[in-house]
Amino acid sequence: MLFPILLTLLTTAHALTPSPGCGKALPQGTSQGSTGASNTLTLTSSGRTRSFLLHVPTNYSPTSARGLIFSFHGRTRTAASQEVLSGFSDPFFNRDLLAVYPQGVDNQWQGDPEATTDDVAFTLDMIDYISARYCVDTDRIYATGKSNGGGFSANILPCNGTATQRIAAFASNSGAYYQEPVSGTCPAETVPIPCLPSRPIPLLTLHGTADTTIPYSGGSRRSKCLPSLPHFLQNWAFVNNFATSNATTQLYGNRVQKYEFGGQEGFLTGYRVEGLGHSWASTVGNSDSGVGTYLNATSVMMEFFGKHTLK
Ligand SMILES: *[C@@H]1O[C@H](CO)[C@@H](O)[C@H](O)[C@H]1NC(C)=O
Ligand SMILES: *[C@@H]1O[C@H](CO)[C@@H](O)[C@H](O)[C@H]1NC(C)=O
Ligand SMILES: *[C@@H]1O[C@H](CO)[C@@H](O)[C@H](O)[C@H]1NC(C)=O
Repeated sequence: MLFPILLTLLTTAHALTPSPGCGKALPQGTSQGSTGASNTLTLTSSGRTRSFLLHVPTNYSPTSARGLIFSFHGRTRTAASQEVLSGFSDPFFNRDLLAVYPQGVDNQWQGDPEATTDDVAFTLDMIDYISARYCVDTDRIYATGKSNGGGFSANILPCNGTATQRIAAFASNSGAYYQEPVSGTCPAETVPIPCLPSRPIPLLTLHGTADTTIPYSGGSRRSKCLPSLPHFLQNWAFVNNFATSNATTQLYGNRVQKYEFGGQEGFLTGYRVEGLGHSWASTVGNSDSGVGTYLNATSVMMEFFGKHTLK
């Protein structure tokens, strides 16, 4: 009885798809280490030079394929600031996976009302560039971000059928999920969200109730319409073919609600964090907020990513 179970566990643990970079020595001059030790790299995407920071963990080996996490900065912020804020280069949160902090043109991302760049193409180009030179498990590529970067991760990338063939799961913290207004008004509970994903999408959001930039309840902003978080998540449940009702878990003395859809733990999940502003959730102060909150977004995301692979 035990043998088949053990075999299944072993097979699952070893299932991975090594990228063409596996077996190649690290490109000359590559630096390995924690926050601040990342490598500034560039490539040409849609005819423009684009840059990104690549974190290579200390324990990197060209013969062991590992996952890759994209962390997109908020509008007006930078790749370097997102590395510090989201902490995916910090071994406290992530010892093994590669992490990428892309830099937006004019410090913003596709999905922002003013952005005109094709950042989906940029993301696909970064995946190609990195997996050709470093040893990536192409079944374990993930995307997350803050604010405009979270909107890009959870409202733009997962709606592109090419990106969802390359990226396994999507997350965001205080994401800005801009939609088109309806006859000049913003019905935050019903605004159409024209996203038809090519498969059920694992997705995680964290959002604070004290966010006055991108409010939990949505509303008009910069001539666009922000859906409320319940509408945004229920729409994801709908397009994933799940019921739009959720299983609610109360955490931290009812200050944090965890909403899970589809009856599958950790597939489509929203965290509502009482008192959190427009900030990357952290139990200690960070560059977004001097005061900590109940949980670390980065830990919640790492656990979520760990549950999902493309195959
Ligand atoms: C995804 O976006 C890329 C870059 O814009 C585009 O070339 C591709 O056609 C899109 N894929 C789908 C299925 O929409
Ligand atoms: C989850 O369900 C509860 C109870 O119906 C509701 O109050 C809450 O808004 C729902 N959460 C989301 C994100 O849809
Ligand atoms: C949250 O992350 C910080 C590092 O940014 C760490 O010091 C703290 O212990 C973490 N909190 C929990 C509850 O793990």
